[in-house]
Amino acid sequence: MNILSPSILASDFAHLAEAAEMVAHGGAKWLHIDVMDGHFVPNLSLGPDVVKCLRRFSDLVFDVHLMIDTPEKYIDTFMEAGSDIITFHVESTRVPLDVIERVHAAGKRVGITLKPGTPVESLVPYLDRVDVVLVMTVEPGFGGQSFMEDQLEKARFLKKYKDENGLAYDIEVDGGVNLRNVRACLAAGINVIVAGSSVYKGDAAKNAADFMRVLGE
Ligand code: DX5
Ligand code: ZN
Repeated sequence: MNILSPSILASDFAHLAEAAEMVAHGGAKWLHIDVMDGHFVPNLSLGPDVVKCLRRFSDLVFDVHLMIDTPEKYIDTFMEAGSDIITFHVESTRVPLDVIERVHAAGKRVGITLKPGTPVESLVPYLDRVDVVLVMTVEPGFGGQSFMEDQLEKARFLKKYKDENGLAYDIEVDGGVNLRNVRACLAAGINVIVAGSSVYKGDAAKNAADFMRVLGE
C-alpha cells in the first residue's frame, strides 16, 4: 500500500493542528515534519516543542525529517516529543550507526536520506538496518522547488537493492512532487510520497484525496 506524507512545511504555521487534520481527512496516514537548523541547510523551520504540541492534536504517523548537523544530539528530544519516524542525513553525522541503533532502542522507526549531490552508494552500509530510505528530489532547505527527475535513478537502485537482498524498507521521495510526476515516482519503486506545496496550496483535504486516488491506482 502506498503512503502519502504531506509536508506541513508548506502549511500555515499559525494553524498547524488544522493542517494535520485536513490531510488526515483527505486520507493521509503520515505527516512529514521538516526540521532545519540554519547550518546543515540555509533555513530554519521548527523544533521539538512544535512536534510535542502537535502530537496532542493528531494521530498521524509523525515522519520527522531532520535537516540538522549532529542529529545524535537531538534525536532523544524529538522521540520524546512524539516522533514516530526519525530520518537523518547521511552527510550530517559521523555516527550513523549510533543514530540508527538509538532510534531502534527507543522503539521508533529510523530513516536515512541524502542530498541530491550525494551518491546513493553512500547509503549501502546502512540499508540492512533502516526502516525508511528517503530520496531527495530537491536541494533540502525550502519547499516549493522544482522536482529533479534524475534523482529517480537512486530510487530505482534502492528498489533493486531491496528486492535482491530481501529487505523491507520503505522508499520515500521528497521535493517538488505533484500530481503530474507522482506516477513516475511510483514506477521507480517509491511507496511513500511527500508532498508540501502541491497539498497545501488550495484545499488540502481535497488535494490529499486526489493524491490518495493516484496512490491507490
Ligand atoms: C525540503 C523539504 C521538503 C519540502 C517539500 O527541504 O524536505 O519536505 O517541504 O515541499 P514541496 O513538496 O513543496 O517541494
Ligand atoms: Zn522533508
